[in-house]
Amino acid sequence: MQRPKKRFRSRDWFDDPHRMDMVGLYLERWMNSGFTPEEFRDGRPIIGIAQSGNELNPCNLVHLTLAQRIKDGVRDAGGIALEFPTHPLFENCRRPTAALDRNLAYLSLVEIMHGYPIDAVVLTTGCDKTTPSSVMAASTVDIPAIVLSGGPMLDSYADGELAGSGTVIWRNRKRLGAGEITEEEFIAAAAKSAPSLGHCNTMGTASTMNAVAEALGLSLPGCAAIPAPYRERGQIAYETGKRIVAMAYEELTPSRILTRQAFLNAIAVIAAIGGSTNAQPHIHAMARHAGVEITPEDWMAAHDIPLIVNMMPAGKYLGERFHRAGGVPAVLCELLGAGRIDGSVITCTGKALAENVKGAHSTDREMITAYDKPLQEHAGFMVMMGNLFDFAIMKTSVISEEFRRRYLCEPGREGIFEGKAVVFDGSDDYHARINDPALNIDERSILVIRGSGPIGWPGSAEVVNMQPPDALLRKGITSLPTIGDGRQSGTADSPSILNAAPESAVGGGLSWLVTGDIIRIDLTTGRCDALVDEEEIARRKKDKPPAVPESQSPWQEIYRAGVGQLDSGAVMELAVKYRGIAKKTPRH
Ligand code: FES
Ligand code: MG
Repeated sequence: MQRPKKRFRSRDWFDDPHRMDMVGLYLERWMNSGFTPEEFRDGRPIIGIAQSGNELNPCNLVHLTLAQRIKDGVRDAGGIALEFPTHPLFENCRRPTAALDRNLAYLSLVEIMHGYPIDAVVLTTGCDKTTPSSVMAASTVDIPAIVLSGGPMLDSYADGELAGSGTVIWRNRKRLGAGEITEEEFIAAAAKSAPSLGHCNTMGTASTMNAVAEALGLSLPGCAAIPAPYRERGQIAYETGKRIVAMAYEELTPSRILTRQAFLNAIAVIAAIGGSTNAQPHIHAMARHAGVEITPEDWMAAHDIPLIVNMMPAGKYLGERFHRAGGVPAVLCELLGAGRIDGSVITCTGKALAENVKGAHSTDREMITAYDKPLQEHAGFMVMMGNLFDFAIMKTSVISEEFRRRYLCEPGREGIFEGKAVVFDGSDDYHARINDPALNIDERSILVIRGSGPIGWPGSAEVVNMQPPDALLRKGITSLPTIGDGRQSGTADSPSILNAAPESAVGGGLSWLVTGDIIRIDLTTGRCDALVDEEEIARRKKDKPPAVPESQSPWQEIYRAGVGQLDSGAVMELAVKYRGIAKKTPRH
């Protein structure tokens, strides 16, 4: 293949006339993998493959085999591929939460890409935080980078019905609480919801963040939605490997792709797909590392975008059907047609977004609807504020009709709800007391959880989707309004007000709230306030915020000392000033 002559940064390692001893040392051990000295010395780009698959993170396991197809593509395009592991990020199993490790995976990936002779990188993504952590790192280092999603699992069924990952857990947890199913039936349904390799097949955080990567222009068109076991998944891995070599020559770096407009496009896509509320902190984190400012107004500007993807938890179907209907390109096509995104942004293909998705219309209008025949109006997140927090969000696309009727339809006060706060300090407290009759929880109660933010937990926990006490479940009340300074699973369909910042651990408004206070939620203005007078608030603020558990590991302590709040992405604040660090090769 004819390529223009180009000197890559890896040459700084291999072309050092003064330090042949060092060059020899680098090469000596690479020979262990069967490479020859010429391969490293003839000027080809070295392509890192950031391998996120491992047995601690089953959602990304498919990448262990996909890596070979990436390498085939890299080699055929004239590069050298070197695969290396990333820090495991398994959503369901990492305690106290995988969110604690998003920034750790980010930091380690930055060091690898900066400190080794890597000219461009393939970021393998899948499970929730694997996407934002690697995109954040790519911005900090700013070498050409492309995202390869691993893809969702196949559609899963239980008792002849679609049973989406995560969603099946939250729904059956309620049925278990109401005494409708046994523990064995609960576990059996959970097992059936995971029929193959791949990440969650609902529009949870994983599918959302992979769609976001594609919407940002970081992966090849169609990449996000191809199910993990499909033939096309191997094919796009090969194409991704080929494309990253070209990107290395074109110096198509994240800083050229991750513009403010690209992020606004992604925010529009999150609304249209009914995406996870976790996308909010991840968007802010990725944007801040890219040097882009995203404001609450940017989220509200997308609030009126309708839901056009019929996927759980906001809709009915799962990932296979989404892919067959046209996936992310079909969604982009609708949004472009409606003038809701900017098609001129440059993407990893080297072309504008609009060019990538030209003619990519939905082939299944039950799954991906036309923009003007949506499943629901106003599917974007609603930004809330008031005396309990400066910032929180609510995913209005999952508010059920029954919930709307129960809470938001009082004649003359539509959209306004007042209820009595029942406050829990973290999830242990919630589990210990939720069924305590002395709390008098009824359908006019609002469940509040605090101590679950980045510093309080630490890491910020997915605990705000609290279910009502068993007694209410048995009466058919399956959700109450909830508020919290933590997050909730992207697969949950709970109408929560979450990601509240500042969190109670740093003295945010939830820290002075007490059980019995009346809270007013006004969805017409985006206000959420405790109806407590100023003097009383000032008096309560003199007390210390509720205690948080002590750090159990060195990283927890480092994290707590350096992390910001969810409204600004919960990044390591000191890291934000480092951008484009690949320009300076580290000393040896
Ligand atoms: Fe990993 Fe859902 S738990 S993708
Ligand atoms: Mg999760």
